[in-house]
Amino acid sequence: MDRVSPSQPPEGEPGPPDGHLAAARLAELDDPAASFSMYVHVPFCRTRCGYCDFNTYTASELGRQPGASRDSWATGALAELDVARRVLGDRAPAVDTVFFGGGTPTLLPPEDLAGVVAGIRDRFGLTADAEVTTESNPESVTATDLEALVSAGFNRISFGMQSAVPHVLQVLDRQHTPGRVPEVVAAARSAGFGSVSLDLIYGAPGESAADWQRTLDVALECGPDHVSAYSLIVEPGTRLAARIRRGELADIDDDVHAERYLQTEESLARDGFAWYEVSNWARDDEHRCRHNLAYWTGGHWWGVGPGAHSHVGGVRWWNRRHPVPWAARLADGASPAQGHELLDADTRRLERVMLELRLADGLALDVLTASERARADIHVAAGRVVLVDGRMRLTLSGRLLADGIVRDLLD
Ligand SMILES: C[S@@+](CC[C@H](N)C(=O)[O-])C[C@H]1O[C@@H](n2cnc3c(N)ncnc32)[C@H](O)[C@@H]1O
Ligand code: SF4
Repeated sequence: MDRVSPSQPPEGEPGPPDGHLAAARLAELDDPAASFSMYVHVPFCRTRCGYCDFNTYTASELGRQPGASRDSWATGALAELDVARRVLGDRAPAVDTVFFGGGTPTLLPPEDLAGVVAGIRDRFGLTADAEVTTESNPESVTATDLEALVSAGFNRISFGMQSAVPHVLQVLDRQHTPGRVPEVVAAARSAGFGSVSLDLIYGAPGESAADWQRTLDVALECGPDHVSAYSLIVEPGTRLAARIRRGELADIDDDVHAERYLQTEESLARDGFAWYEVSNWARDDEHRCRHNLAYWTGGHWWGVGPGAHSHVGGVRWWNRRHPVPWAARLADGASPAQGHELLDADTRRLERVMLELRLADGLALDVLTASERARADIHVAAGRVVLVDGRMRLTLSGRLLADGIVRDLLD
C-alpha cells in the first residue's frame, strides 16, 4: 500500500570521478534479455506540497546561485547524457523506456524536454515501441504544451491528481481545482497521448470513505489507462508532519488505509482495471508502466539529473542532490555521482524478493531458501499468498500486508 520513496540517498562509497564502470559490470548489458531505461529528474515545483519530501525546489528555495536556474537544467541533462555515453560506450542497448519525473517536468518549456528526448535518441537510440513518459501537475500544462510533447516523442503522461475533493486537496496543499483534471486528460487525448495515468493519494486527514469514493469515481470518469493509488505517507520534516505533531490535523490511521485500499480495488476492478503491483492498476497488460516494471524486475537504467539514482550491472549509484553541485560537476566534464555501491549476490536476491513479491505476477519460488520456503507455507495457510505455477502471489488480504510478509519471509 505504500510507495517507494526516493527521499534520502543511502550510505555508500564515493563514485569514481569519471563515473566508469568495470567491464564485468558492463558485460551484463550484453545479455539479449537485458533492457535499458532512462530516468530523467526535473527538480522544480511551483510550490511545495505539504506532504512531499521529493528532491525538488521552488524558485525561492533555489535562490540565485549560479547553475541553479531552471534555464540551465537542460544543458546539465545533456552533459550527463554525454557522461552516460562515454561510460557505457556501445554496450547499452537501445533505450526501451524513458521516464521524466520530478518535481514537475512540465514546469519547463516543452522544448527543453524535447531536447533531452532527442539527446537520448541521438546518443543511444530508442526501441521502435519505446515508452516515453512524463509526469505532470494538472495546473502546469496547456493544450499547446501537450501537443509539443507528443511531437517530441512522448506517448505516456502521468498526472498528479491526488483527490477530487476540495477540502482534501487543501489539506494536501494542491493548487489545482477538481475540474482541472478531466480537462487536462481530455487535452492529453486530443494531443495524441496513447496512455494516460492518474496518481491518487488516499488516507489524508479528514478524508471520509465518501470523499475517497468521489475521487475514484471522478478519476474513472476521466477514462485513464492506468492508476497509481498511494497511501499518504507522513514524511519526517514535512509541513504535514509538523501540522499533525501540533494537533492541527488528525494522525494517519492504518486501519483506515486498509479500508481505502479495499475500496480502491473494488472500484477499479469493477471498471475493468487489474492490479499489477500493489499500488498500481492498468486497464490491460499493454498499459502497465514498463518503466516501473524495469525497476521492479532488475532492469538496467541510468538516472539523469540532480539526486537521480542509477543501476547498471549490479552497481547502484546516486547523483549529487542539489542542482548547483550537480551542474558544477558536469560543467567540469566529471560524473555528478555522489556515491555508489556494488550489490553482492545476496543483496540482489533480497531486493528481488522485496520487489517481485509486490507484483501480481509474483515471485519465483526458487529464489527462496529452504527456510524461507517453509515460512511461505505459513502465509499460504493464513490465506495471504497462493502458490501457482512455481510462483508465490499475494492475495487481496496479503496485499494489505505486503511489506510485513516480506520482512517475515526473509532469513
Ligand atoms: C513527482 S510526483 C508527480 C508529479 C507532480 N509533481 C505532481 O505531484 O502532480 C509523484 C507522486 O508521488 C506521490 N507522493 C508524493 N509524496 C507522497 C507522500 N508523502 N505520500 C503518498 N504519495 C506521495 C503523489 O501521488 C505524486 O503524484
Ligand atoms: S508537485 Fe509533486 S513533486 Fe512537487 S511538491 Fe507536490 S507532490 Fe512533490
